[in-house]
Amino acid sequence: MPVDIIVGTQWGDEGKGRITDLLAGTADIVARYGGGDNAGHSVTVGDTLFKLHLLPSGVIQPHTKCLLGSGMVLNPAKLIEELEKLESFGVDISPERVLISQKAHLITPLHLILDGAEEKQRANGQLGTTRRGIGPAYTDKISRKGIRIEEIREPDRYRRHLEQHLQFADSKVEVHSELQELDPVQAVESYMQYGERLLPYLADTEFFLHNALREGQGVLAEGAQGTLLDIDFGTYPYVTSSHPISAGALLGLGIGPQFVRKVIGVTKSFQTRVGAGPFPTELKGEIADRLRGTGQHPWDEFGTTTGRPRRCGWLDAVLLRYAVRINGITEIALTKLDILSGISELSVCTSYRHEHGSAREYPADLPPLATLIPDYEELPGWEANIHGVRTWDDLPTNARKYVTFLEDQCGVRIRWISVGPERNQMIERPA
Ligand code: GDP
Ligand code: IMO
Ligand code: MG
Repeated sequence: MPVDIIVGTQWGDEGKGRITDLLAGTADIVARYGGGDNAGHSVTVGDTLFKLHLLPSGVIQPHTKCLLGSGMVLNPAKLIEELEKLESFGVDISPERVLISQKAHLITPLHLILDGAEEKQRANGQLGTTRRGIGPAYTDKISRKGIRIEEIREPDRYRRHLEQHLQFADSKVEVHSELQELDPVQAVESYMQYGERLLPYLADTEFFLHNALREGQGVLAEGAQGTLLDIDFGTYPYVTSSHPISAGALLGLGIGPQFVRKVIGVTKSFQTRVGAGPFPTELKGEIADRLRGTGQHPWDEFGTTTGRPRRCGWLDAVLLRYAVRINGITEIALTKLDILSGISELSVCTSYRHEHGSAREYPADLPPLATLIPDYEELPGWEANIHGVRTWDDLPTNARKYVTFLEDQCGVRIRWISVGPERNQMIERPA
């Protein structure tokens, strides 16, 4: 039985969490494959709003097993906090149900400080990272000096590695004065305690997954971040340090491609971005404010992790086609269509103009994204509030036109259309 992969097609915050929660209804295992607590996935179930950063969003469906894959970087303090919070909501977080890959890497207090300190010194200006230590933790992993969580199995060795790792702070204090804030003795003691607490959760998740797949179980791989934040295929250097794309699921879970059945792209009905970097269809003014909301609704466009207001703009079909290509997307879940209600004229970017002509696709030899001028197609909007719509036929004609226009633009079936954050605020169409 298969693996279905959920990926964000934009710059994150597309609504992956709520789509994962929905599709987890028929999965046996839900697994996060990359990133860390830079992710913020909100899932609304009745009156409860779950905000997940490290656990896969499938954890709310009680029948699932939940995996944190080898491609992740874990801040153990945040992980323990999240486990305890979920437990207080009555979610089963026992080690029989939640399994952490022993190959995942730890984020340390040094990584947290360096994330902020390095931001100030970047040649291209600040990236606007989430300051969760993501970049420095992946840097240590790639340069082969990271701390894998499996080290907690051997406390003496773990302690020595932590001490050695934290010594770096002393040697770099002149470059990054912030490193003076670090208390290495305290950090080591805390990390020894976190190790003890997390030890029961460690597992050979790759072996576990392989056996489950051979037994015919269904696996849902939940991506964090989005295609355009991928370290290789995103808008480099304004990206995160992991692989949010579908290929990242194979790497970050240790599974072979023969098991993959579907790649589900989650696309928001408009574009948002938090942090710095190019954004051709970004809007300023009334429409942007309307798309963002004021912050009074939980779904308004303010970061789940950092609370920062998100930059907003029209949907970019050139970048959507790119995401379809890079991920091999087979189906799309379109979210937040309800937010477009009441805007009389909608625009979708279908190509870019530049000094030598125009481009419908986003290949590497284009001038920098920030210099491209979007060409839009205008579509008529609709007035009606669609929060209560549950069938395709009941959507306003212009809402259906918007959806089919996007399908034509990207060549992929839009299987799900969400019209609100609740589980049932969803329209499902035949494959
Ligand atoms: P993720 O990072 O991709 O999981 O997305 P986030 O959870 O960061 O942001 C999406 C926000 O939009 C969350 O607050 C969701 O509850 C909310 N949301 C998801 N789908 C819809 C929808 O169709 N309509 C509305 N109004 N809100 C939605
Ligand atoms: P979810 O999973 C939106 C952005 C940051 C910054 C850049 C690098 O909720 O979609 P990092 O801390 O990763 O080094 O920051 O990536 N970013 C996200 N933006 N949603 C996310 O996750 C993000 N995770 C990272 O804002 O621009
Ligand atoms: Mg998010």
